[in-house]
Amino acid sequence: MDLKELAAAEAVRYVEDGMVVGLGSGSTASIAIKLIGDKVKAEGLEIVGVPTSKTSDLLGRAVGIRIVDLDDHPTVDLTIDGADEVDPRLNLIKGLGGALVREKIVAAASVVEIIVADESKLVDYLGQKAPVPVEIVKFSFKTTMRRLTGLGCKPVLRMGGDAPFTTDNGNYIADCRFERMDNPTVMESIINNIPGVVDNGLFVGRASKAMIGTRDGIRIIEKQF
Ligand code: A5P
Repeated sequence: MDLKELAAAEAVRYVEDGMVVGLGSGSTASIAIKLIGDKVKAEGLEIVGVPTSKTSDLLGRAVGIRIVDLDDHPTVDLTIDGADEVDPRLNLIKGLGGALVREKIVAAASVVEIIVADESKLVDYLGQKAPVPVEIVKFSFKTTMRRLTGLGCKPVLRMGGDAPFTTDNGNYIADCRFERMDNPTVMESIINNIPGVVDNGLFVGRASKAMIGTRDGIRIIEKQF
């Protein structure tokens, strides 16, 4: 079985009748959404889905999940979402798919947040492989990027073809590569303190567990308290 599918299938076992389920974004979360759709049909589950992006909204509807607004269902029982990096403490980098703002809003509303990923996402420390995506408003974005440089990273404006990539919220993304990040908790706040920043892809202390698909089978990482 594909490693992403292995992880997604393990997480979908936690979906139960009556739940409000957060629908993540990215390729692994999309597999989970399809499997949730299969489970809804096979078991006749009455669940509703809160999407973390326009893509997960469309996919959820396509596979037969009733899509609702977070404002009408402010407590999400379980969210299944992907990640770009997972460190040993279950801290994450997310947002290479561009959905980090909505993903963090839904994660913050979730009782349980399960991360699904293949083993390529495991790192010793955040920033080891991936940049930290930072969503920034378009107004004066070069000034915002200069301020990000002052934090010791190298921000690169994400492109989508010839034009800058635009998020579901109508903003840009600066991908910020850090040499090394010793304190992601502090860095998450410092980045968000820069005027023009909407949010960033550091997810510290938000995941409950991670289902990691490995060549030796499923590996589950639990949150350490
Ligand atoms: C979307 O914005 C991201 O946070 C994704 O969850 C992340 O990029 C993982 O995507 P894949 O499962 O496609 O690697």
